[in-house]
Amino acid sequence: MIAIIGSGLVGSSLAFLCASNSLDDIILLNRTKSKALGEALDISNSIPETSDFTIHGTDDYSEISRAGIIVIAASTGVYLKNRHEMIGAQVKMIKEIGRKIKENCSSPVILIISNPVDVLTYFFQQETGFPRNKIIGIASSLDSKRFRYLISKTIRVKNSQISNANVLGEHGDSMVPVFSQTKIDGKNILEIINSTQKEEISEGIQNYWKSIRDLKDRSQFGIAKNTFDVMESIVRNQTLSIPASVLLKGEFGEQDVCMGVPVKIFSKGIVEIQSIELDKTEKELFKKSAQTIRNNIKSI
Ligand code: LAC
Repeated sequence: MIAIIGSGLVGSSLAFLCASNSLDDIILLNRTKSKALGEALDISNSIPETSDFTIHGTDDYSEISRAGIIVIAASTGVYLKNRHEMIGAQVKMIKEIGRKIKENCSSPVILIISNPVDVLTYFFQQETGFPRNKIIGIASSLDSKRFRYLISKTIRVKNSQISNANVLGEHGDSMVPVFSQTKIDGKNILEIINSTQKEEISEGIQNYWKSIRDLKDRSQFGIAKNTFDVMESIVRNQTLSIPASVLLKGEFGEQDVCMGVPVKIFSKGIVEIQSIELDKTEKELFKKSAQTIRNNIKSI
């Protein structure tokens, strides 16, 4: 069984993907119960005829006790200028959700997509004491997809020609696109783009969500699909290598902070934090990004 907490745009898009791909039984939990019931009723019709899985809406945490994966997509409001706008309320919310999950479930894998994701991943871990490999903040894989999109648009190459395009660090303005490892048809991208293009791509990834906000309020499908991929890897025992936010204990020279790093995911969560070569500037940016997240954590 999987549980999705929060049935807004992202939570319901994710539930739709899980239901229509027949991933598992789904509990959709929302503090306004009618919203969860309505979304479940609608999404239920997307379950394939050959599938016996069901989707059920509720506001009761005792119903998620059998969940092997719990996704947190809840939000206390809508942020407009930056993802930290409601940091105080969001941290309060994640701690409360953490307590309720701990009371009701024994050892689920937790996927956090609520923002600011790195800070919330940190506080969820602090609150519950769950093992760090079972608490994954999802965002850097989405930023990496945006990196690929902007590369393909800037230098007119196909998505399939791009490899090793990873974005690490904060899911925020200090994120670090790793240009030094990115390849186009096997050739390093830095031999292809100039410094202006590099800057434009970097800023484009940082501001991508703002473009979406200006055009349609909020992003939903990109984050939903990138989260679904992680769930599928866990449920169907398929290895997945992506960047995601996890509590660091010395990896990349950082500790006591959650931030996007390359990880390998399998049935029980993160099985490995992978290393990646960064050039001198990227190392400095990564350090700054860690400090930015740490400052946000300390601001609470
Ligand atoms: C975004 C949200 C998910 O970047 O943080 O679209």
